[in-house]
Amino acid sequence: MSPSKTSTAQSTTTLAIDYRQPTVDDGTRLWEIASDSQVLDVNSSYSYVLWCHDFANTSIVAEVDGRAVGFVTGYRRQTDPSTIMVWQVAVDDAYRGHGIAATMLHRLLDRTQRLGVVAMHTTISPDNVASQRLFGSVASARGLRFERRDLFAVGDFPDAHEPEDLYMLEPELQEP
Ligand SMILES: CC(C)(COP(=O)(O)OP(=O)(O)OC[C@H]1O[C@@H](n2cnc3c(N)ncnc32)[C@H](O)[C@@H]1OP(=O)(O)O)[C@@H](O)C(=O)NCCC(=O)NCCS
Repeated sequence: MSPSKTSTAQSTTTLAIDYRQPTVDDGTRLWEIASDSQVLDVNSSYSYVLWCHDFANTSIVAEVDGRAVGFVTGYRRQTDPSTIMVWQVAVDDAYRGHGIAATMLHRLLDRTQRLGVVAMHTTISPDNVASQRLFGSVASARGLRFERRDLFAVGDFPDAHEPEDLYMLEPELQEP
């Protein structure tokens, strides 16, 4: 368990948060958190259950009192297994602002280091400032370069989907 303290003028709350690999039993809750976020693309319930089964070692759940309150789903790129691609990250509205999302990303990077992961990529739509700040903050804390590139444009989608820009957290280039 990791205690996470948050202070307001009136009170100080300490949350006991457990960070762990997801299991199939988490799939439904991950789907609920994604649906409740009102920001994420909500995929089929099956995709979350499958993810928890097939990509558990590149995903993470944050749990409070036995209930998942946040998750990160990720995979190692087929063409570059040293990069973890974050597919979705979300924290239940009631638990935001406690550093849970950042901690999940740090723990995931720490855990996947032993698989040879050194970089993290994700895509973010231009208006999702919270997500841009989240990944920027993790990059900065770990001394990683933080770069943005165009990836998927509006025309790549069949519907009114926003563009998805690629954000890369990469080790600093070594001097030759
Ligand atoms: C984005 C999200 C995951 C952040 O979760 P969180 O647990 O509240 O984030 P943290 O407390 O770990 O904050 C990490 C950093 O992001 C920043 N941040 C978080 N929410 C922010 C917001 N709404 N606006 C600006 N910055 C924000 C924090 O200030 C912090 O930066 P700092 O270290 O420089 O202080 C959460 O708001 C969420 O679930 N949003 C809906 C889903 C979504 O947009 N997911 C991302 C796209 S896949």
